[in-house]
Amino acid sequence: MASFIFKNSLLLVLMHSLLVVIRTTVSTSKLSRRTLCHDHERSALLSFKQSLSLNKSSSGAFSAYPKTESWKARGESSDCCSWHGVECNNQTGFVTGLYLRSSLLYGTLPSNSTIFILVHLQNLDLGDNDFRNSSIPPAIYNLSSLSGLDLSLSAFSGQIPVELSKLSKLTYLDLTGNYLSGSIPASVGNLTQLTHLSFSRNLFNEQGTLYWLGKLTKLTFLDLEKTNLYGKTLQSLSNRTQLTFLNLRANKLSGEIPLWLMNMTQLTFLALNSNELEGQLSSSFSQLKNLEVLDLSENSFVGTIEAGIFLSLKKLYSLTLSYNKISVITNQHVNFTLPNLQIFQMISCNLSEIPYFLKFQNNLQVLYLDDNNIHGKIPYWIWNASDSLQEIRLSSNFLTGMEHNPIALPSTSIKSIDISDNLLHGNLPVPPRSTLRYSVFRNRFTGDIPSAICNCTSLEILDLSDNRMSGPIPQCLANSFEALVALILQKNNFSGTIPEPYPEKCTLNVFDLSQNQLMGRVPKSLSNCKMLQIFDLSDNQLQQTFPDWLGTLPRLQVLILHSNKFHGVMGSPRNSFEFPMLRIIDLSQNNLTGDLPVKYIQTWSAMRIFHPDKELQYIEVQVTYQNKNKGDFIVWYVHYTSSIIIRNKGVKRYYGRILNVFTSIDLSSNKFTGHIPESFGSLEALESLDLSNNELTGPIPPSIGSLKQLESLDLSHNKLSGLIPQQLGEKLNFLAFFNVSYNLLSGPIPRGQQFETFDKDSYMMNSGLCGLPLSKTCGSPQSPPADDGDEDEDESDADGGGFIWIFILAGVGSGLVVGIVMGNIFVDRYFWLIAGVVQNLRLTLKNRRRPKRQNIRG
Ligand SMILES: *[C@@H]1O[C@H](CO)[C@@H](O)[C@H](O)[C@H]1NC(C)=O
Ligand SMILES: *[C@@H]1O[C@H](CO)[C@@H](O)[C@H](O)[C@H]1NC(C)=O
Ligand SMILES: *[C@@H]1O[C@H](CO)[C@@H](O)[C@H](O)[C@H]1NC(C)=O
Ligand SMILES: *[C@@H]1O[C@H](CO)[C@@H](O)[C@H](O)[C@H]1NC(C)=O
Ligand SMILES: *[C@@H]1O[C@H](CO)[C@@H](O)[C@H](O)[C@H]1NC(C)=O
Ligand SMILES: *[C@@H]1O[C@H](CO)[C@@H](O)[C@H](O)[C@H]1NC(C)=O
Ligand SMILES: *[C@@H]1O[C@H](CO)[C@@H](O)[C@H](O)[C@H]1NC(C)=O
Ligand SMILES: *[C@@H]1O[C@H](CO)[C@@H](O)[C@H](O)[C@H]1NC(C)=O
Ligand SMILES: *[C@@H]1O[C@H](CO)[C@@H](O)[C@H](O)[C@H]1NC(C)=O
Ligand SMILES: *[C@@H]1O[C@H](CO)[C@@H](O)[C@H](O)[C@H]1NC(C)=O
Ligand SMILES: *[C@@H]1O[C@H](CO)[C@@H](O)[C@H](O)[C@H]1NC(C)=O
Repeated sequence: MASFIFKNSLLLVLMHSLLVVIRTTVSTSKLSRRTLCHDHERSALLSFKQSLSLNKSSSGAFSAYPKTESWKARGESSDCCSWHGVECNNQTGFVTGLYLRSSLLYGTLPSNSTIFILVHLQNLDLGDNDFRNSSIPPAIYNLSSLSGLDLSLSAFSGQIPVELSKLSKLTYLDLTGNYLSGSIPASVGNLTQLTHLSFSRNLFNEQGTLYWLGKLTKLTFLDLEKTNLYGKTLQSLSNRTQLTFLNLRANKLSGEIPLWLMNMTQLTFLALNSNELEGQLSSSFSQLKNLEVLDLSENSFVGTIEAGIFLSLKKLYSLTLSYNKISVITNQHVNFTLPNLQIFQMISCNLSEIPYFLKFQNNLQVLYLDDNNIHGKIPYWIWNASDSLQEIRLSSNFLTGMEHNPIALPSTSIKSIDISDNLLHGNLPVPPRSTLRYSVFRNRFTGDIPSAICNCTSLEILDLSDNRMSGPIPQCLANSFEALVALILQKNNFSGTIPEPYPEKCTLNVFDLSQNQLMGRVPKSLSNCKMLQIFDLSDNQLQQTFPDWLGTLPRLQVLILHSNKFHGVMGSPRNSFEFPMLRIIDLSQNNLTGDLPVKYIQTWSAMRIFHPDKELQYIEVQVTYQNKNKGDFIVWYVHYTSSIIIRNKGVKRYYGRILNVFTSIDLSSNKFTGHIPESFGSLEALESLDLSNNELTGPIPPSIGSLKQLESLDLSHNKLSGLIPQQLGEKLNFLAFFNVSYNLLSGPIPRGQQFETFDKDSYMMNSGLCGLPLSKTCGSPQSPPADDGDEDEDESDADGGGFIWIFILAGVGSGLVVGIVMGNIFVDRYFWLIAGVVQNLRLTLKNRRRPKRQNIRG
């Protein structure tokens, strides 16, 4: 079970330091002083300005603004020394600093750019703009006074020019996050004044030993994340004991952690995660007394570590050991407190118990222990360990219960509790009143939902799905919460009616009570929940006509009511603006009668237009909350994505997440009569259409051939007659599943790319059809094949994995801002979570990944 969630897991931990060492200082113009600016520098700056355009998508920082807009050739503001981002020497008037970070610049930087005329420049910061794959011009050599150069996150590509190594006064060089390729030139070793160096996150070739690093004796900051380093850890660094920041994450470094690393006693930040390091972690870490952030996750470390090795790391703020095969020995006599420890992560390790030393970490805010081998009960102390605990994750372990079987968890300030996917049984404990998210899905809880849970008025996500709970759902669940966003009670044994009424200000986005024994009607007051996106009441015993007021929900995207007792004629919408966002509707296995709902089909406008360039995302709801703690500003984002079961390509599938482009109509297994309306042909974005097991008559309309995105078409078990339109063979290029068996169709089976792939099961029991793959040739009557098709009822994870992103912005040391961006591939259906401790927020999400299109074609 535990391995299910993380079966593909691979923690890609990326990190981008947002140290802003070059600070933007804008010289203020003094009326008392004459214009300092030199004419040739003014015109150089102006033609640099003109060579570029401004584009909002060029810069990712929140603080971005077009600094060059203040640059004017004439008038009051023609003094270039007073322009935004320009700094002059107050004696000579020459431009010495150009700080154009996050200025929305868009365009190329050619070798003849007039910026290279500014030969007195000492600081040049062009970071976080878009230079559209320009290479770094060799003309950079002209700027021989440069001591600070920042070209990070600016879409530079090509090789690093050797001319860069001639800027012998450089102390600060940041080329983070570009598309630079080739090898890093060894001549960079000549830049012996460097104190700050980053080549992280480019597209370099494999880099071996980087022996030249040994020459950079003044380095204090070194960032080589994702620079394709391989081999044993860089021996050339062994004398750099004055380093305070060392980031080597996401490379292919192997071997054991070298002993000389333990001599870097000034280190405050050490990230070795996502490499191929092995061996045991030794006690020599205890020499790194200044460490604030230590990340060793996603390597092949083994064995057990004594909690005591962290004893002397009194400044430690964040400790991440996830994705290794290590356990922590917890000697009960070593009880020590790390006064600054706020984040502790040991996801997917070999922990057999919750490390006892955590009991004494009274400043802990974030505790992640998911996907381990932890058996037994959740100790009671974990709820009391730290007053500041904000988030706890113990999911995917083998926990069976809670120590003392509490009716309610102790009152703390906790915000998020995830104990899902364990073996927890007994009654559901009521979470503390501060809880925003309570996730206990996939356990063995029994009994009622305690109505005391309605006292947790802050709850935003409540997920009790996949347990063995029963009894009626307390009425107060409908209206006790101020901000409930997701109510998920799927797959239990709840009976009685759906609670009501829902308040005027209902905030629900996700409402999922599927797979229970609920009876009665769908409360009409749910129409107050204007934010609803996902609505799933499938597999219950609801009995009424189609709840047509659902059409008034402006954001509804997913409507699943299958396997209930909805009956009667569907009728028509009151106006043509109903269901404007609907893209998945499943009303199958009910008792609906009458004609197919032609008028509704005409309102489903989200299914009508296919947007090939649409940015792929999962349909999700986001919960954000903020918290102030000891001066740090904490922002949490929880992204919740719903899981649903729908039929696609003839197979019942479990969708852990739903892509925002997936469109599907399932009206199968009802008692619809009459013809298939031509208007289906207008739903051009439709990917799956299932009208099987009804009593439909008449022909298959040729307009179905317009559904170019269609992957699955099931019209089987009806009374359709006439020919199969040839258009289907010509136009449906994505069709992977087609079934018209058990009808009264006749004539030749269409040919064409996809139609070459369907076998005879798609056509059986239509005595009039002929041509391949049937043995009956057209024109010469033969008996139809007689074998029976059997239906697949397979619940499988439809989309192999997407990305979950975790952002932690950790204030490390005074005046510094360090951002840690971590992502991992998750197979399970659940959320992603973003946590941030922000002092001075500057966050760039430029390299964020998107789910891939393949996921829905899988
Ligand atoms: C702005 O930048 C984006 C992304 O690089 C690009 O697609 C778009 O065409 C640019 N817009 C203009 C007006 O140049
Ligand atoms: C000129 O700059 C220097 C340092 O760069 C500063 O000490 C001095 O006060 C400045 N003079 C004026 C007149 O602003
Ligand atoms: C740079 O060179 C290109 C041609 O290579 C030319 O079109 C452009 O005007 C030149 N720019 C400047 C500022 O000289
Ligand atoms: C380099 O600077 C000199 C002035 O010192 C200037 O004349 C020359 O054009 C610059 N070279 C480039 C490539 O911009
Ligand atoms: C720049 O180069 C990268 C990597 O080679 C490529 O993915 C990207 O599309 C390029 N961008 C432009 C604007 O050419
Ligand atoms: C480290 O420093 C020592 C003494 O200064 C020197 O002998 C040794 O070669 C240096 N090692 C490296 C890898 O630079
Ligand atoms: C660590 O530093 C000490 C003292 O400077 C030195 O004797 C020792 O050789 C160093 N260890 C390694 C592995 O470089
Ligand atoms: C903590 O350690 C001290 C000795 O160092 C011991 O007396 C005490 O009982 C320990 N406390 C706990 C709760 O284990
Ligand atoms: C995991 O821990 C158990 C003891 O809890 C140990 O027997 C086993 O060898 C460990 N596995 C690995 C791969 O280290
Ligand atoms: C809710 O909290 C109030 C005040 O603490 C308490 O009196 C009441 O009994 C609680 N309700 C339930 C159902 O536990
Ligand atoms: C469907 O409706 C018919 C009458 O309209 C009724 O006899 C039958 O029991 C219903 N079936 C279900 C499953 O509700």
